Amino acid sequence: MDPFKAYLIEGSPESVRAGFTQLAEAQLDPGEVTVRLQYASVNYKDALAATGKGRIIRRFPCVGGIDAAGVVESSSSPRFRPGDAVAVHSHGFGVSHHGGYAQWAQVPADWVNALPAGLTPLDAATIGVAGYTAALAVDLMELNGIAPARGPLLVNGATGGVASISIDMLARLGYEVVAVTGKPAEAGYLKELGAASVVAASGLQTGSRPLESAQWQGAVDSLGGEPLAGLIRTTQKDGVIASIGNAAGIAFSSTVMPFILRGVRLIGVNSDNDVPLRERLWQRLATDLRPRHLERIRNVVPFEALPRVIEEVIAGRNRGRNVISLQDAA
Ligand SMILES: NC(=O)c1ccc[n+]([C@@H]2O[C@H](COP(=O)([O-])OP(=O)(O)OC[C@H]3O[C@@H](n4cnc5c(N)ncnc54)[C@H](OP(=O)(O)O)[C@@H]3O)[C@@H](O)[C@H]2O)c1
Repeated sequence: MDPFKAYLIEGSPESVRAGFTQLAEAQLDPGEVTVRLQYASVNYKDALAATGKGRIIRRFPCVGGIDAAGVVESSSSPRFRPGDAVAVHSHGFGVSHHGGYAQWAQVPADWVNALPAGLTPLDAATIGVAGYTAALAVDLMELNGIAPARGPLLVNGATGGVASISIDMLARLGYEVVAVTGKPAEAGYLKELGAASVVAASGLQTGSRPLESAQWQGAVDSLGGEPLAGLIRTTQKDGVIASIGNAAGIAFSSTVMPFILRGVRLIGVNSDNDVPLRERLWQRLATDLRPRHLERIRNVVPFEALPRVIEEVIAGRNRGRNVISLQDAA
């Protein structure tokens, strides 16, 4: 293996710096599977990690990138053979173990998913940890009783990665999706993905009383903070809210009234799952949950553009999924 290009996050939790460098094979972390990476993506968490705006990195230095896709070069695990197309994400990838912003990765087999038929590495990177987490949220919400006939489902932070794929998936399943966004100028994009209606975040009516008029059967929440508190008090009886993210903050205040008088269920979603669940959800992502608008959702850019994309994500100017092409990088 020749020296290869990587985007390395260095320093300490108090002082993070990130930039391109060359790594040698001997600098790869240990792992059963060696993958020639083709694509990675830029998640909100990646932007926090690379800028130090969130305490994400657990080991310095660390190649960033919490998800990537490519082809297996070698494997000591019987689950994989050279030539298998795979996606790598979650656990320590890009956090405490070199991640996806490099042309090679070596990782534990449990972090690797063989791509089901019909999904290319580019599709898998477009889906990435964002789409996987959206699928997990839908799966958990189904277990908790959501159904298309029960009324509208809200998705906030709607132009984001998790949300864009959630909208696409839920519309495909027949749900009436209400997309809530801070970028109402993107209403056309959100309707193309399948949103039935688009509401500007500034115009969302969620009141402040312990219980407000019940408007949705549930929600996919990427924001946390006070937007989540508003969803809790406006969700219908036996509704389900999937708490995925914290783009608007980690703290919120609520009373217990929506839980004990309406049976509202607030369910946590965490993408660090064991192999059987990961395999089942990737299978769903290739079949009944397969997003129908991956080409519309993805924005593919060369490796060199990574620092610019990170800035856009931090500034909240991104839309959909930013996919980094790692191939042919100088
Ligand atoms: N639980 C898990 O395992 C897991 C997995 C993946 C992601 N996440 C979390 O899920 C969240 C979304 O991730 P992502 O990759 O989809 O991020 P993203 O692509 O950056 O999308 C986040 C969206 O939230 C909205 N937003 C951004 N900053 C905001 C602010 N200060 N106040 C209100 N809205 C804001 C924007 O949408 P609009 O402009 O359209 O409103 C933005 O596009 C993040 O918090 C991420 O850490 C969690």
